[in-house]
This record gives sequence, C-alpha cells and structure tokens, in this order.
Amino acid sequence: MPHSPSSIDVTRLASWQALAAHRDQLDDFSLRQAFAEDPQRFATFSLNDCGLFLDYSKNLIDSRTRELLVGLAREAGLAQAIRDLFDGALVNASERRPALHTALRRPIGDRVLVDGVDVMPEVQRVLNRMSELVGKVHNGLWRGYTEKPITDVVNIGIGGSFLGPQLVSEALLPFAQRGVRCHYLANIDGSSFHELAAKLRAETTLFIVSSKTFNTLETLKNAQAARSWYLAQGGSEAELHRHFMAVSSNREAAMAFGIREENILPMWDWVGGRYSLWSAIGLPIAMSIGISNFKELLAGAYRMDEHFQSAPFERNMPVLLALLGIWYGNFWGAQSQAILPYDHYLRNITKHLQQLDMESNGKRVRQDGSPVTTASGPVIWGGVGCNGQHAYHQLLHQGTQLIPADFIVPVSSYNPVADHHQWLFANCLSQSQALMLGKSRDEAEAELRSQGLGEDQVQRLAPHKVIPGNRPSNTLVLERVSPGRLGALIGLYEHKVFAQSAIWGTNAFDQWGVELGKQLGQGVYARLVGSAKDAAEDGSTQGLIDFFRGRHRG
Ligand code: F6P
Repeated sequence: MPHSPSSIDVTRLASWQALAAHRDQLDDFSLRQAFAEDPQRFATFSLNDCGLFLDYSKNLIDSRTRELLVGLAREAGLAQAIRDLFDGALVNASERRPALHTALRRPIGDRVLVDGVDVMPEVQRVLNRMSELVGKVHNGLWRGYTEKPITDVVNIGIGGSFLGPQLVSEALLPFAQRGVRCHYLANIDGSSFHELAAKLRAETTLFIVSSKTFNTLETLKNAQAARSWYLAQGGSEAELHRHFMAVSSNREAAMAFGIREENILPMWDWVGGRYSLWSAIGLPIAMSIGISNFKELLAGAYRMDEHFQSAPFERNMPVLLALLGIWYGNFWGAQSQAILPYDHYLRNITKHLQQLDMESNGKRVRQDGSPVTTASGPVIWGGVGCNGQHAYHQLLHQGTQLIPADFIVPVSSYNPVADHHQWLFANCLSQSQALMLGKSRDEAEAELRSQGLGEDQVQRLAPHKVIPGNRPSNTLVLERVSPGRLGALIGLYEHKVFAQSAIWGTNAFDQWGVELGKQLGQGVYARLVGSAKDAAEDGSTQGLIDFFRGRHRG
C-alpha cells in the first residue's frame, strides 16, 4: 500500500530493506561482466523520449535492481506525490504553498486552480505581455532616452533569477535574434558591475531587475548601481522608465525603487525561484531568442511533464534518474554527483543544476519536521567536457570515492570545425567507457611489458596504472540543442529532484538554510563599516573584521 509521501520513514519500508539486502549481493558486480554476459544490456537499460536518449546501462544495476528501486518509488507513494505536484497541493509544506512551475508550460485552455482560482488566464496574460515587450524591443520600437533602439538587455538578478535564464539564453545562442545582446549581472562584487558597464551605452541599454521577492541584497545593490550609472551617463529620472523594468511578485517594492507599474511583470508565490525560468523571469531568454522559441522551450518542458506523469516508472526518465541517485547516495555511500556536459552551449547547466538540486534537496528534516534517517541530496559539481578531463576527471577514475556522473552530449554541432565534433563526442563516450572498464592489474602489467620495461619497473609502476573501473554513469544524448529539447532536459532534472524529495519525504521547495547567512550578514556589515560597536558573536569573525578595518582601501 502506498503511504502518504511526507509522513513515512522511507528506510523502514520493506522495499528499502530489500534494496539493502540486494546491494550486499551486488558487492562483486562487474559492469564489464554484465555487458559480456548480456548483449541486450544497452537496449534493456536505455530509453528515448521527449527528444532525449538516455543510456543508463553503465550503472551498477541489474534488472532486479530496477525492479526493487521501482518498488521503492511505489511503496514510498511517488505516484500520489506526482499527482499532488501537478494538482497544486501544498507540496511546500513549511511555506504552505503549491509548486506550480508546471502550470507555466501548460497549453492554453488547461485549468490550474490555486486557492480555488484558475491561474491559467493570468499565466497567458503575462506571456502575451512578454511577447509584446519582446516584439517592441526586437522591432526597434522600444527606444531609449535619445530615441535610439535598445541594443543591450541586462538582467539584474541572482540565484534562480539568474542561473536558469543565463543557462537557457546562452545555450540557445544559435537561436538568438539579431540586434539584442543579453547580459547578466548577479554578484554584488563591484568588479562584475564595472566590467559589464564598460561594454554598455546607457542610451541603448534596458535593465530588467529580476527578483521574486525584490528584497535580495545583491540584486537591489546592483539595481541601484545601474540606476546611478544610467544617470551619470546622461539619462534622466523622467526617462528612467525607458531603461528599467522589473519582474517580481513584490510590486510595491519595485515601484518604491522607481519602476513604473506598467513596466513590472508579475511572479507568483506558487513558483519557486529555481523553477522560475518558465515565468516572466525568463524575459531575458525571450529577449534573446524571441517569443516563439521561448514557447518551444515551454512546450519541450511540457512534453517532459506529460512523460513524468504518464510513463510507467520502469520507463520514466526522471523517476529512473531519481532512483539511480538514491541507489548510489543511500546504498553505495556516494556523496556527490558529477554533471558533465560535452557542449559549449550547455556549459552553464552544471551551475543551474547545482542550485536546482542542492537548494531543493539539501534538507535534513522531512515535511513533518522529523529528521531524515538517510542521506538526502548530493553535492552537484562538474563542468564542460573535454576541459574537465584535463582537470578533475583523474579523481573520477582513480580517486577513493564513488562518484556517479551524468554525461550530456548532442549528436550534432551548430559550429562544425573540421572533425572537432566527432572528437568531442568520442571523448564523451570514451570517458564513460574508461570509468566503467578501468584497467586491471594484469592489463596494466601487460601494457608496461609491451613497452619493453624490465620486470622491476613493471612492478613499480603497475599499482599506479591500475584503474578500478566499475564507476557508474548515465549518458543523455540530444540530437542538437534546441529550445524544445533544452526545455525537456531542464524539466527532466526538475522532476528528478522532486521525485527524490518525495521518496525521502523532504520539501524540495523551501530554502531556510540560506537565510541565516543573510541575517548574520547585517551584523557583520554594521561592524565592518563601524556603525555597530559591539563585538561579533565569535573571535574568528571579529578577528577578520579587525583585519579588514585595518587594511581596507576601497
Ligand atoms: O537566497 C536564496 C534565494 O532565495 C534563491 O532561492 C532565489 O533563487 C534567490 O535567492 C533570488 O531570490 P529573488 O528572486 O527573490 O531575488
């Protein structure tokens, strides 16, 4: 019988116990052997849907493992949790909110109720408004204070109001409309503002202040810096509305900042920051790629939503990725997960998935406040291939930790240069192959002997050349990065993260942990600038404050 997803200790379920016993039986499992024994292994453990091909055959699993993992998802009540997510139940219990980012990609005519009100007409209204604004900018009808058309759009935002939009607009550069360049200003570090401002002309720049809450320190400071810069460059208060827009659920704060009411696009409480690129927070994306491509992005994510809701768990991409993550994190002791895109345009996906996964699943209590009894979300890290191969892949191959990796790679490049793409693709495959196959002691010795080394040298070097192998990975292949496929890819990871939280019983949609640093930041700042005279809470922080005060020059 499925249980209510948030009230159970998943480790006490019969399916969990069965998985623990099964894990012990797999101690000697060899991927090399599994492939040698089963010519159908690739077909058995791969699937193709929503424009994505997932090969998960290089995992430490057999058919029984998949059966048991799916059994866990069933017993933990995942099917009900998925229905709850899409139906607008209060899946964010601590904040008593639904998480309805999926409503943003639903087709016209669907109904989604929040507090008894259908939100879809409002979603459509905002999308139409985005379409109008993008049209005005692209057609040169939105003009700056000197009547010149806008050439540069700067998104001022951080976290979810930055990482998703930046990932998508940069991944879809081949779809960018001519005439408008998009930039991102996130960090409070003055150097990032300085470097960006040097590239801009105030008269042709439009700033979008993106902040769900409109009270994020970094964003407000950057917005103020941008306003001062605009005024110093010759802009006037009277023409400010031509250069500043906002996307926020805090209309009053945006207006108090000086942004005209008609220049504010809304956000809603029922969309989390890291799930918000599908909303008006995606305005810089639409400014870059145009509204029809933006709608294609939404449609791709919608296809993944449909797949997540309807595919049987054995053939459900987000569910399988979620279960594999649980398999390694909870049964094999893995503490991190590498995300390795082999595509220049997807180079920012690791950063987006870091926030998506770690802010969602970095939780230590369940929805009902009781402590989790097993590990929750892993550390997400990685970066673009092949670069990582010459930097951190060594640890993947020979380090002492088990680190599952997701390789993401397109079949075709938008910019073919000689045979570079074939080499890029080959490197991607050979990395997952090397992780899996490794190199045995016998192979290492034979290789050294074939190089003509004497036996003492062979024995000296062989231990260093042994690569254990049996390291698991998934490979996600896209024909090409397109708006639809990218939408599906991001949707895939969103649902993977949710499915894991539902199984652990945690809340994927709050982030209380980040608040403490913000609170303490106020006191540290006051002591740094001398407006607070009392000592910091601890000697280390006070020592560092003193060090700063003694040497600060600007
Ligand atoms: O501090 C964390 C966080 O709240 C993220 O969850 C969010 O994406 C980011 O800050 C930005 O928040 P906002 O869009 O409200 O400025």
